[in-house]
Amino acid sequence: MTQRPSILVARAIFPEVIERLREHFDVETNHTDAPFTPQQLAERLQGKVAVLTTGSERIGAELLAACPQLKVVANIAVGYNNFDVPAMTAAGVLATNTPDVLTETTADFGFALLMATARRVTESEHFLRAGLWSKWALDMFAGAEVHGSTLGILGMGRIGQGIARRGAHGFGMQVIYHNRSRLDAASEAACQARYVSKAELLKQADHLVLVLPYSAESHHAIGAAELAQMKPTATLINIARGGIVDDAALAVALRERRIAAAGLDVFEGEPQVHPDLLTVPNVVLTPHIASATITTRKAMANLAADNVIAFLTQGQPLTPLNPEVLPKVLNA
Ligand code: DGY
Repeated sequence: MTQRPSILVARAIFPEVIERLREHFDVETNHTDAPFTPQQLAERLQGKVAVLTTGSERIGAELLAACPQLKVVANIAVGYNNFDVPAMTAAGVLATNTPDVLTETTADFGFALLMATARRVTESEHFLRAGLWSKWALDMFAGAEVHGSTLGILGMGRIGQGIARRGAHGFGMQVIYHNRSRLDAASEAACQARYVSKAELLKQADHLVLVLPYSAESHHAIGAAELAQMKPTATLINIARGGIVDDAALAVALRERRIAAAGLDVFEGEPQVHPDLLTVPNVVLTPHIASATITTRKAMANLAADNVIAFLTQGQPLTPLNPEVLPKVLNA
């Protein structure tokens, strides 16, 4: 009898997804759900041909050199800044991610965070829970208008376009965006979005939503200089990745009211949060949950599993990031 391939699931995922994987492979799981250290991950990967990861597991040259049997790493995330894709390609290891299945859910959350931030939802709830509400007042927690305002989007991929559609069609917002490449005319029309320079975006947006991937180029794309160009009444929303915003500079801008408020779902060095952000009132903070509905998280885990199954059983991954490795891995 031929031995079944062994794979690792690096974090706790839904039992039914593990069962699907067990139909094809010997599956080792992470029962504690504590992220593995790089050394633990390398140890667990000995003899494994595949691993399902989340953004917490870093896959780079050192790990790949220590795990020569590894053929595929399936991220349960659309973002893959935890992968060194060139190193994976050089090592002949396939990388996959989970696009599309989380687009609308994440765009919903982008809007939820925008609304909560602009309308001071969490700040006012903390006030109420603290027993501080003694009378109603006209200017009590008066926030920023959302409908009819100018929505700025930095990074106009699938999720950015989902947010643009919600803003334009649902809230009658003027949508402006900046992206490495401009959308085609049909996509711009579908989102009713107008392309502008980054400088114009910063200057004109009432609500600026960040949805760009993290890379060396986008590191601190929003720092003190960029915050200084924004309107003092503006809100900033980050549902992309920590490190795109300079969190220390943002905390200063919020404290000094150089911008009105921020909504952050992602942080530099998360799960740590810059301590200064915890002490400013005009920021809504959530723990990286933009794609967190049960339906969507299951769809993400299933897509990662499908990638591994389709690749290892038929040589045809569904959403490969470096398809150029396929001939090399399949002929190995
Ligand atoms: C993603 O899919 O990239 C989300 O941020 C979850 O990591």
